Amino acid sequence: MAALRIEGYVIVSADGMLADARNAMPDELKFEGDKAFFTAALDRADLILHGRNSYEDQPNSPQRKRVILTRKIEAIAPDPANPKSTLWNPAGASFEAACRHAGVDAGTLAVIGGPGVFGMFMDRYDVFWLSVAPHVRVPGGEPCFPGVPARSPQDVLASHGLRAGEVRLLDAAHDVTVTPWRRSP
Ligand SMILES: NC(=O)c1ccc[n+]([C@@H]2O[C@H](COP(=O)([O-])OP(=O)(O)OC[C@H]3O[C@@H](n4cnc5c(N)ncnc54)[C@H](OP(=O)(O)O)[C@@H]3O)[C@@H](O)[C@H]2O)c1
Repeated sequence: MAALRIEGYVIVSADGMLADARNAMPDELKFEGDKAFFTAALDRADLILHGRNSYEDQPNSPQRKRVILTRKIEAIAPDPANPKSTLWNPAGASFEAACRHAGVDAGTLAVIGGPGVFGMFMDRYDVFWLSVAPHVRVPGGEPCFPGVPARSPQDVLASHGLRAGEVRLLDAAHDVTVTPWRRSP
């Protein structure tokens, strides 16, 4: 599906975690500047894709088309809880079929987690927006990508052919930044 541009989004702690030991996103990883950046990006996206536990829960969320990964169905099904949402089990149907069911075959797809879902698209991102909270640590938390913490999130992105672009400051008080990791031509 060459017409679909694939972008990834995550905020991680200094030790590469996206959630705490209870598999919840800790308040320590929530920053207004990052939230505004993430909200604007999702408002621009044509389709959101995530695992069953990674709903972004923003005011505009009900308006967004989305694909939710779950093993509770065989292949592809409408989501009884949300007419804009498609349930997808990659073991039973292709990514392209899931996007078709969602009514999107061009534009921008935003992949928003969790770790296994990020991992599935590692060789397909056009750009991955990695936000980092350098003063936050989440001991025993959930690593953002497969391969973390043995390797850093940055090393994982680089090993999949992505290169860091210009760093943007999202929260000056906490030194939170976002870096676009783009696929080299
Ligand atoms: N810091 C951040 O930016 C960020 C980003 C994303 C998520 N998070 C946090 O991370 C936590 C969620 O992580 P999570 O590990 O639970 O990940 P998740 O991917 O959101 O949810 C896991 C569920 O998604 C489904 N799934 C995932 N991979 C699948 C596959 N290959 N095939 C079929 N179904 C699949 C399964 O659902 P079923 O059980 O229905 O089969 C699985 O139980 C939450 O606390 C979330 O808030 C944080």
